This record gives sequence, C-alpha cells and structure tokens, in this order.
Amino acid sequence: MAAVSLSGKRVLLVVSGGIAAYKALELIRLLRRQGCGVTCVLTDNGGQFVTPLSLQALSESKVYTDLFSLTDESEMGHIQLSRAADLLVVAPATANILAKMAGGMADDLASTVLLATDKPVLVAPAMNVRMWLHPATQANMATLKQRGVQVVEPNEGAMACNEFGPGRLAEPPEIVAAIEALLAPGAKPLAGRHALVTSGPTHEPIDPVRYIANRSSGKQGHAIAAALAELGARVTLVAGPVSVPDPRGVTVRHVETAAEMLDACQSALPVDVAVFAAAVADWRVEQAATGKIKKQPGAAPPSLALTPNPDILATIAAAGPRRPRLVVGFAAETDDLMANAQGKLKRKNADWIVANDVSPETGIMGGAENAVHIVSAAGIETWPRLAKDDVARRLAKRIADALG
Ligand code: CTP
Repeated sequence: MAAVSLSGKRVLLVVSGGIAAYKALELIRLLRRQGCGVTCVLTDNGGQFVTPLSLQALSESKVYTDLFSLTDESEMGHIQLSRAADLLVVAPATANILAKMAGGMADDLASTVLLATDKPVLVAPAMNVRMWLHPATQANMATLKQRGVQVVEPNEGAMACNEFGPGRLAEPPEIVAAIEALLAPGAKPLAGRHALVTSGPTHEPIDPVRYIANRSSGKQGHAIAAALAELGARVTLVAGPVSVPDPRGVTVRHVETAAEMLDACQSALPVDVAVFAAAVADWRVEQAATGKIKKQPGAAPPSLALTPNPDILATIAAAGPRRPRLVVGFAAETDDLMANAQGKLKRKNADWIVANDVSPETGIMGGAENAVHIVSAAGIETWPRLAKDDVARRLAKRIADALG
C-alpha cells in the first residue's frame, strides 16, 4: 500500500550500535516507500551491526560516518547535515547515545549533529532491560523529554540477551507512525477512530472434515482494513479463513464460522465505523456431525438440513446505543445489482452499500480488481474499475470525510 503522507519530507537517521540496528534497514525501506528522503549517520558501534553499504543501498543516499572527513566537510559540513532534514531520528538509540544527548556531548558525528541541530528529534531506544530501567537511563530520558525530544517507547518482550522486559526497539511501522505524527499530522484523518472490518468467507462445518464455503478471497476486505489503518484508524479485522496475509498495523481476529464472526464483531464494539466485506455463509448445517459421515453401501447420500446464519451486518447496524456511526455493507450480486443493493441498504439498516457485480465473466470474485457503486440514501455513485487496493483507499478516504 503506497501511502504518500511523507512524500518530499527528509529524515536524518542516526543508527547507533545494538543488535536492533538491523531494523533500521526496514525503517529506511518503509520511509522510502512513502517518498521520504533518508540520509543516514552511522556510529562506529552501529557499523559493527550494519554496513554503510546496506544503508546506502536502501536510502539511495550517501552515508556519513566520520566527523573529520575532509570530503564530507567540503560537500556538507556537520552543521548543515544536522539542519538539512525536517526531522532527526535516532533508531536504534542506545543507552550510550541517549546519555551523550542528555549530557550535551559531541565526540563523534552522530552526537555532534544531534547537538548542533535546530530540528525536532525523535529517539527509539533499544537496549537490555536492566540498562533501560537503570536510574541513569531513566533520568536521561526524563531530561530529553523535558527538552522536547520525542520518544517511541521500547516494546516489552524477549531480548537477544535472553532476558525479558521493556527494551526491545519498537517495530519499524510504529516508528514510521511516530514520524508521520510529527511530519504529516493532517495525513491521519482517522487518528483516534476505531474501525471494524469483516473479510473473507466463513466455513460452516458439515462434519469434522467437511464444510460449506464460498469463493471469497478476502482481498478486498483486507485491503480496506489496511487502508483505514493507513489513515490512522485503530482497526479490528475479523477474518474468515483466507490465504492472504494479515495486514500490517491491524488487530486481526481469525474466525471460521458466521457465529464466531458475529461474536468477534460484537466484542470489538464500540466502533466509529464498521465495514462488512465478508462473504458470510447464509446457511449452516443445523446439526454438524461430531464424527466423519461415512458412505453406507447402497444407501442414499445424506441430506443436510440447513438453518439460517445470523446476519452480522443487520445485527450490528440495528438501531441502538452501540450502533456504529457509519455502517458500510457490500452487495455481491450476479443479477439486478442496483435493485438488490438498494434493497439491502434498507433491509439491513446500512448507511452505504458497496455494490459489485460478481458474475464469473467479471473476474472480480478472487481477482485483483473491482468495479463498485456506492449506494446510499443520497443516490448512487459509480466508480471506475480499479485495483482492489485503490478501491480500498478511495473508500477509506470517503469514510474519513464522512466521519469528519
Ligand atoms: N452479511 C452479513 N451476515 C450475513 C450475510 C451477509 O454480515 N449472514 C453482510 C455481508 O458482509 C455484506 C452484506 O451483508 O456486507 C450483503 O451480503 P450478500 O451476501 O450480498 O447478501 P445476503 O444478505 O447474503 O443476501 P442474498 O443472499 O440475498 O444476496
């Protein structure tokens, strides 16, 4: 998903020593993908963990390592280097560089640019849990925060040194989110909103080895969840069995049946917006067999008694205090697209229906593209045939506009 909120921005990334330095490579990749310029300063210790060449290849820029390089000084002095960016990011930030920053030391290029800069600074600490919790580090952090340095707090978890606790470098997408919040705050119109998305098919068991299913791939629903997260929403994605990967930055609840999907949706409430893109099975087998159904020689094939599944969209969209402000349903049809979509809008109490023609000749079911109409009380809006990712982005933008 190519977001462009950081397009044209410039980050000076200081990579200090530590096993987490490898994550700086992913961070650079994510920033470059958004069109953000990245120039790296690598400390001597950082150079023990990642090479200038790998930083240079990913950032597509010269990597600075040495305070007293005459060529560097003639091309760009360290003062200029520290001010040419919109933001200085230290990731990973070791206990040592944080101490130098707090103490105002400037004994190498990294600490010198951090002292000389007049730009905002963001640090992403990473170190052993004892070092992080040490009063010296905590006092340095308090000093830096008080001076306006922004912090992406370390995560808790297992560490390379076999200890457990806070000190793990935040994941690169979390660091990118913090950079976006500083450099492009308006690009996150859904910040502070909670979105619920359903996606994929459901599987309704016949017996322990057989089930009723449908051809939904989950591509469209997953793309919508990712697009809402890109715009800053906290997203809960309730996903039926699909082979597409979990989108990044989204909380995913994996379910099998319609009943489980409804439960997961209800426990995600309250939400500001709910998008029901799942192809929920309309019926389930009334009494799924507990053992495998066997063929009986000469006997007729078994008949399956079906019973309706709950309508998840209609249940969540029913008027009441927990109804999301905006409820978006889908109508996948092979005939009478508009009439069916308008019927569903009313019957299910949705605010919008995203209607699409899933006749086999369209190639939409399971394919990479979608051609949709947005049906609401205000009328019908027809969108061109687009990649499912683009439909998702356009829908997320429209949701952001509607929530205001
Ligand atoms: N939906 C749902 N729960 C169900 C069935 C459908 O939440 N048990 C939602 C879908 O996620 C979609 C919308 O309702 O947003 C319409 O789904 P669709 O399958 O097109 O419609 P159905 O209600 O199944 O109607 P029909 O079978 O008559 O087309």
